[in-house]
Formats: sequence, C-alpha cells, structure tokens
Amino acid sequence: MTLLPHRSSTRSRRPSAASPAASSAANWASPPRAAEVDHPVLETARLRLRKWREDEAVRISAARTNQATAHFLPFIPQPFTVEDARFWLKDLAEQAAAGTRFNWCVADAATDQGLGNITLFGIHVRGAVRDAEVGYWMHPEAQGGGVMSEAIQGVAQWYFAPANDGGFGGRRIFIRTAASNTAARRTAEKAGFRHVGTERAAFEIGTHVDDKITYDLLITD
Ligand SMILES: CC(C)(COP(=O)(O)OP(=O)(O)OC[C@H]1O[C@@H](n2cnc3c(N)ncnc32)[C@H](O)[C@@H]1OP(=O)(O)O)[C@@H](O)C(=O)NCCC(=O)NCCS
Repeated sequence: MTLLPHRSSTRSRRPSAASPAASSAANWASPPRAAEVDHPVLETARLRLRKWREDEAVRISAARTNQATAHFLPFIPQPFTVEDARFWLKDLAEQAAAGTRFNWCVADAATDQGLGNITLFGIHVRGAVRDAEVGYWMHPEAQGGGVMSEAIQGVAQWYFAPANDGGFGGRRIFIRTAASNTAARRTAEKAGFRHVGTERAAFEIGTHVDDKITYDLLITD
C-alpha cells in the first residue's frame, strides 16, 4: 500500500551546490542534527509549504482566532492578536535557528495565500531513533478541502528522505490529538497514519480532559 500518494510530486528546494549548507549535506554520513538542516520549501500537487512572512501577521491572527482552535488547542490565547502573531513568528524563527522545530505556512501553490500551518517539533535524534511530532491547523475559510492531509504527506516525504537526497533522514512521525477531535483524526488517517494508542484522560481541551489518541507513520510503512 502506498501511504504517501503525493511522494513523487513533492519536491524540496535545496540550497545551490555552492552553498555551505549543500556541501555539509553531502557529507552527512549519519542523521543530521536539525540545526544543520536548511528550512526547506516543500511543494505538493496543490500546495507550497514555506515560511510565513512578517506581512501575514493579520492572516495568522484571523486563522488562530476561532472556536475550533479555542476548543481543541486551548493553550493558544483567544483572541490571538496581530501582536501575538508577530511574537509567534519571532519565536518560530528562534526555534528554527536552534534546530528544535520546522514550521511551514501551508500556502496555495497557485495564489501563495496562506491556508494553514504545519509544524514538526519534538525532534528526537538519538542512535537509530529519529522521531518527531506533527501539529497542524487550518484557517477556518480554508477548512474542508482535504488540504492538510496533503501537507502532512509532503512533510513526511521530506522527513523520511535520506539527507543526501535533500531530506531529513527521519524514521517515525507521530500525531497526538484529542479523541473528540474528529477533523484532526480524519486528517491523520487520510495522510496514512495508523492509530497506535489511546491514553485515557490525558489531553486537555476547552471543556474537559479528553482521551489522547496517538497516530504514527514509519519510514517502513
Ligand atoms: C484539523 C484541521 C486542520 C483539519 O482541516 P480540514 O481542512 O478541515 O480537513 P479536511 O477538509 O481534510 O477534513 C478532514 C476530514 O475530517 C472531517 N471533518 C472535518 N471537520 C469535521 C468536524 N467538525 N466533525 C467531523 N468531521 C470533520 C472531514 O469530513 C474529512 O473527512 P472525510 O474526508 O472522511 O470526509 C482543522 O479542522 C483545524 O484547523 N482544526 C482546529 C485546530 C486543530 O484541532 N488542530 C489539530 C490539533 S491536534
């Protein structure tokens, strides 16, 4: 079974061969440390995954201020102001520089409009273990188009690709969500992830502490 149907259509833009990052990539004999990897631009059939721009703070503020986000991601302040968005972008830049997180704006490939966000965090590289968690949200106007599962597949393809092929050389990606978050669960399943566990009363949402559902995808799937 092919779990990453967009595999062949997802490309990462690597630095030119003359750049220091490219020459160090060619020398990676073991998995790279996240801080050594350039933040790639990823392309899928309908999407371009890129960094957010400073001038998109208003769009980010609108995207993160909504009822579903308040309910399922209660750690996000509501309303999420433009000032919050600017601070968040600064924080992302610092985490990217430290190699602790890759974060992409999920943009429409044709118009470049930001539709949502996908983040790869908790990157854990030790010995043969190379795993990371994926988190995601969509602007309410852009929900319902099946876009996020395509974005997750694009990130997974890059994460699993060998370092000398422009990828990260990862082995496992996982998603954790609230049991009652049907949209997030369906999104994970549509991206090819497998339900591997349920922890009772372990995921706080707006109304109560829900069960926590874990999905994962392995390089060997
Ligand atoms: C989770 C989220 C990113 C999904 O984005 P989306 O664009 O709505 O996703 P899709 O359109 O691809 O829909 C995915 C599936 O969920 C289903 N779905 C969407 N909203 C739903 C809802 N409120 N209730 C039940 N099912 C829902 C869709 O029908 C689809 O399933 P199908 O293809 O079998 O019909 C989006 O709902 C969101 O941003 N939610 C708020 C933030 C959040 O919860 N993030 C995840 C935290 S772990």
